[in-house]
Amino acid sequence: MTASAAMVAEFDDVAGWTAEAVEQLGQRHAIPATCRGSASPAALAWLAEACELAAGSTLLDVGAGAGGPAAWAAERFGVRPILLEPMPAAGRAAARLFGLPVIAADGRRIPLRTGSVDAAWCLGVLCTVRDKAAVLAEIHRVLKPGASLGLLVVVARGPQTLPVPDGNHFPTEAELRALLAGAGFELLDQVGPPGPPPRSWSRRAEQVAAVVATRHRAHPAYALAAHQGERFTHLFASGQIGVRLLHAVSRASTQVTDGGMMSAPRDQDGFLHELEVEVEAEVSLVEASRPGEVAELPITDWLFDPTDAEREEIGLRGLLDAVEVLEDGARPDDHVA
Ligand SMILES: C[S@@+](CC[C@H](N)C(=O)[O-])C[C@H]1O[C@@H](n2cnc3c(N)ncnc32)[C@H](O)[C@@H]1O
Repeated sequence: MTASAAMVAEFDDVAGWTAEAVEQLGQRHAIPATCRGSASPAALAWLAEACELAAGSTLLDVGAGAGGPAAWAAERFGVRPILLEPMPAAGRAAARLFGLPVIAADGRRIPLRTGSVDAAWCLGVLCTVRDKAAVLAEIHRVLKPGASLGLLVVVARGPQTLPVPDGNHFPTEAELRALLAGAGFELLDQVGPPGPPPRSWSRRAEQVAAVVATRHRAHPAYALAAHQGERFTHLFASGQIGVRLLHAVSRASTQVTDGGMMSAPRDQDGFLHELEVEVEAEVSLVEASRPGEVAELPITDWLFDPTDAEREEIGLRGLLDAVEVLEDGARPDDHVA
């Protein structure tokens, strides 16, 4: 993902600030404030029902942001989410606020095994990705055959004469249908956006936004993110873009799309165990570098950047947590009924 400054501001800086503000205001604010692509519980409920989310099943949320939708699905439907998010502060915010496993990765290259995931969501993400086909193909690869994909997509409703938010490429509905079919999905159902969220929900999101504004209004990233938001507002108000919720299922595929590296669905337990051992070894290596102690030293004495080491450790721990979720899923006896 090549992100512009405006996208980093919108998806990363604001996510980190949002987590801080939630910590000040209380956990009741966490889910409403961190549902950014999908700011409505009615939209999430439609997707969850369409995908028939089941307690104990794994839900991969691609482009999970600061984690609100996945946390909502875990709370309401008892799924075991795995979050995938390329922006580091957003991933850290999700881990901090909800204690969910977060993989720091791009949706075009998902570090999970073929056919290992029960269901996937990708909410408000596709319009921010140029290579939508690659993201959909990767989601298809990691889903079990017949598994559900829930999408929330901002679509183009005609030519966009107004300025488009930086980094956004809105597909038309016809393009979206073709992309889904091309990636091996069968589109089963789609609707327009459900009604607005209840006041109790939007009030909590607004309170968090107000704290973020008070603390960070002077920061250049705040202005960049606000500018992105204004462009969205104008495009929606003019009817040039709109929101669609879609439910598709993964058709079985015999194609090997990952060069064979992760494509053999047999012996999943063995693969996950090997991956776990490798990631644990990496975590030990990073821990051995003692970033905390190094940070205390004068910068001239640093042999490596302790912030990088800490980031790497957080990323590896997220991957380890995701492996554990999948390992539990690979043992049917451990599932919640
Ligand atoms: C509008 S936010 C939606 C966040 C979350 N899905 C939600 O509904 O609240 C879009 C998210 O997509 C992520 N994203 C952008 N490009 C991506 C890519 N190539 N792979 C995975 N995620 C990506 C961004 O970092 C951002 O967190």
